Amino acid sequence: MAETHAQRDADADEQRRFRSTLAMFATGVAVITAPRAQGAPVGITVASFNSVSLDPPLILFSVDRRCLSLDDLCATPRYAVNVLEASQQDLSNRFARANSGKWDGIGIAPEGSGQAVLLPDALATFECEPYARHDGGDHVIFIGCVVRHRARPDGRPLVFFGGRYRVLDETPAAA
Ligand SMILES: Cc1cc2nc3c(=O)[nH]c(=O)nc-3n(C[C@H](O)[C@H](O)[C@H](O)COP(=O)(O)O)c2cc1C
Repeated sequence: MAETHAQRDADADEQRRFRSTLAMFATGVAVITAPRAQGAPVGITVASFNSVSLDPPLILFSVDRRCLSLDDLCATPRYAVNVLEASQQDLSNRFARANSGKWDGIGIAPEGSGQAVLLPDALATFECEPYARHDGGDHVIFIGCVVRHRARPDGRPLVFFGGRYRVLDETPAAA
């Protein structure tokens, strides 16, 4: 029994260490949105967004199997990736909290099925049709085919690094 507890502690320690090492990869922050047949749309904060392919235009993100939104995301015919701006830390936190009235006070009328739901003032948006879904251990990997995208190149990104939000220092790296 004591050994089982020790093993569990060691596993938890290793998982924390793995997370900390992963956190050395600086990312942006995005909110995945999708319409639901009924009720408020899906909205979930992710840092796992990445590009995959130019031809066809593919992107990916991964979703924890424990997320309440997973079934709706698997079923939706259209989802969107909303890349957050430096000033949108509150939105990131809001969509990272399950069961929390994520859309309260956000002036977006849920659109009909098949339509994208876009967050206002995002730095970039990618509207996607589901392309593939893969097993990713305790996550599910979503690959989306981009059908429409737009960017605000004058904006500044919200950055996530070392488990904390950061703002980008735009000083060019030394040659
Ligand atoms: C900066 C940040 C990045 C995150 N990245 C991911 C991610 O890539 N995948 C994921 O499944 N959850 C990620 N999360 C956690 C989810 O946003 C969180 O579990 C959310 O509550 C899920 O919502 P739901 O349970 O209502 O579906 C992240 C949270 C934060 C704050």
